[in-house]
Amino acid sequence: MTSPRTTLSLVDTDPAELAVDAIVIGVHSQTTEPGSGAPAHALLLATGGESIAAAFDGKLTETLALLGATGGPGEVIKLATLGTVTAPLVVAVGLGPEPSGAAPAPESLRRAAGAAVRALAGAARVALALPLPDDADAPAALRAVAEGALLGGYRFAGYKTKPQPARREPVAEVLVAVPDAADATAQAEVARAQAVAGAVRTSRDWVNTAPNELRPPAFADAVSAAAREAGLEVEVLDEAALKAGGYGGILAVGQGSEAPPRLVKLTWTPEGGGNGKRVALVGKGITFDTGGISIKPAQGMWEMKSDMAGAAAVGAAMLAIAALKPSVTVTGYLPMAENMPSGASYRPGDVISMFNGKKVEVLNTDAEGRMVLADAMARACADGADYLFETSTLTGGQVIALGKRIAGVMGTPELCERVRVAGDATGEPAWPMPLPDDVRKGMESDVADISQVNAGMDRAGHMLQGGVFLREFVTDDVAWAHIDIAGPGYHSGEATGYWTKGGTGVPVRTLVHLVEDVATNG
Ligand code: BES
Ligand code: MN
Ligand code: ZN
Repeated sequence: MTSPRTTLSLVDTDPAELAVDAIVIGVHSQTTEPGSGAPAHALLLATGGESIAAAFDGKLTETLALLGATGGPGEVIKLATLGTVTAPLVVAVGLGPEPSGAAPAPESLRRAAGAAVRALAGAARVALALPLPDDADAPAALRAVAEGALLGGYRFAGYKTKPQPARREPVAEVLVAVPDAADATAQAEVARAQAVAGAVRTSRDWVNTAPNELRPPAFADAVSAAAREAGLEVEVLDEAALKAGGYGGILAVGQGSEAPPRLVKLTWTPEGGGNGKRVALVGKGITFDTGGISIKPAQGMWEMKSDMAGAAAVGAAMLAIAALKPSVTVTGYLPMAENMPSGASYRPGDVISMFNGKKVEVLNTDAEGRMVLADAMARACADGADYLFETSTLTGGQVIALGKRIAGVMGTPELCERVRVAGDATGEPAWPMPLPDDVRKGMESDVADISQVNAGMDRAGHMLQGGVFLREFVTDDVAWAHIDIAGPGYHSGEATGYWTKGGTGVPVRTLVHLVEDVATNG
C-alpha cells in the first residue's frame, strides 16, 4: 500500500510574486525585557519573509500577533493576503526563540516545514520562504527544510471504502525559495532529500500496513520487489533454506505461525568495490508480536503491528542507498517472523541451537526479537562485515529509560558515539547505554550457553539485557551498534512537526547518514 507522494523543487523568484496557493514564512518568538515598554511577547520575522512583510507595509508581524501568533515551535497561523502578494494565503510557522540574526537549528526548520505542509493539506501547490543561512550551514538547512516538507506531507492511504469528503489531500507540490535555484549543491540536497524522505515514507507505509496483509512472506515480497526495482541484489531465504542454514532462532519464533519466516538479504555493491569497507544493516522484522505462549495483554497489542519497524527502516534505507550510491558495500539483513501462540509454537524452557552454534535457553517467548536478530547478526559477521548496525523495537525498557523520542544505543563504544552523532545530525536522537557484566551474569543458564533474558526473569535493566544478549552473536573483529527504537519507531499520539501518526521511519535517516559517514571516513 503506497501513500500519495509530494514533489519538491527550488525557486529563486521573489516569494511575493509566486503563483502558489500559500506562501509559508517563519516567525520567531522574542521575549522582551520587562519594563521596556514593548509588549512582553513580540513576534520577530525570520529571514526569507522580507518581501512579504514589505507588501504588508510593515504591518505583517503586528497582524499575525493579532491573530494569536507567538512564534512558538510548530505554531501555524494563516492570514488571507487580499491581493497584497500573489498567493492568496500567507502562513506563518513558529520557529521558537532563536537568537535574532543566527540561523535556526536544522531540526527547528525540519519541524516547522513539516508542520506547515501538514497544516496546508488540501492545497495543491505551496511555497516555503523559510530562513536559510548563506554560509557553510546552508546545505544542512536546505536538507532539513526539504525533508521536513516531504515528511510532513505524508499520509497513509489506509483502507476506508467510502470517499472521505472532509479529508484534505496532502500537498501535491512544494516549492522551496532559495537564493539560487540553479546552484549545484542546492540541487544535490534536493535530490538527496527526495531519496531519503521517499525511503522514510516507504518505511512508514510498511509499518502502517495492517498486520494481516504483511505477514512474513508478503513482507519479504514487498521488500524484494522494491529492492529489485531500485537495482539492489536480492536474496530471500525461505523456511527450507533457513532450516538448511541452521537459523534456529528465526525458525523457533516463526514456527508458531501458519505464515512461515523469511530472511531477506539486500546488497548494494559500489563500482570497483568502493573504499573496500563492508557495512551490515540488520533490522527486526516481527510482522506481529502477540508475545507467543508468553502472551501479551490485549490492551495496546494492536501496536505490535509495528514490531517490524527495524526491518522496514533497514529495507527502506537500502532503497535510499541504491539511489545515493555511496562508495561502500552495504548489505541489509531482514529476519521476518510472526510471533504467534499455537500448538506449534516455541515455548519457555526450549533450548534453541542458533546460527553461530550457541545454545539459548528460552524463558519468555515474548523476547522473540533477540532470537531472530541473533541469527541475522551472526550471518552478517560470517559474511565479513566490518561494521554492523542493528535496529529493533526490542524492549519496553527502552521506552521507560529514554522515552518515546530517544533511541537507546549499545555496542562498541566508538560506534555508539558515531550513532549518537548521526542521530544528532538527522534529528533522530539516540543515546549510548552500557553493557554491564552483572547483567550478563544474570543471564547464565543452568542448561545452555546463555538464557534469553535474566535467569530469574528479573526485569531490572531489561533494555541492557537485550544488548548483552545480542553481543554474544557478534564476532570480536566486528564493530557493532544495537539501536533500540521501541519508543521512537512508532508514534501513537497526534501528528506533530514532520511526525505523522503511526510509523515514524526512525532510524532510516540515521542509517543513511552512517553509511555515508563510513563511505567518506572509513
Ligand atoms: N516488541 C516488544 C518490545 C516493545 C514494547 C516494542 C513496546 C514497542 C513497544 C518485544 O518483543 C518485547 O515483547 N519485549 C519484552 C521483553 C521481555 C520479555 C524481556 C518487553 O519489553 O517486555
Ligand atoms: Mn515480544
Ligand atoms: Zn517484539
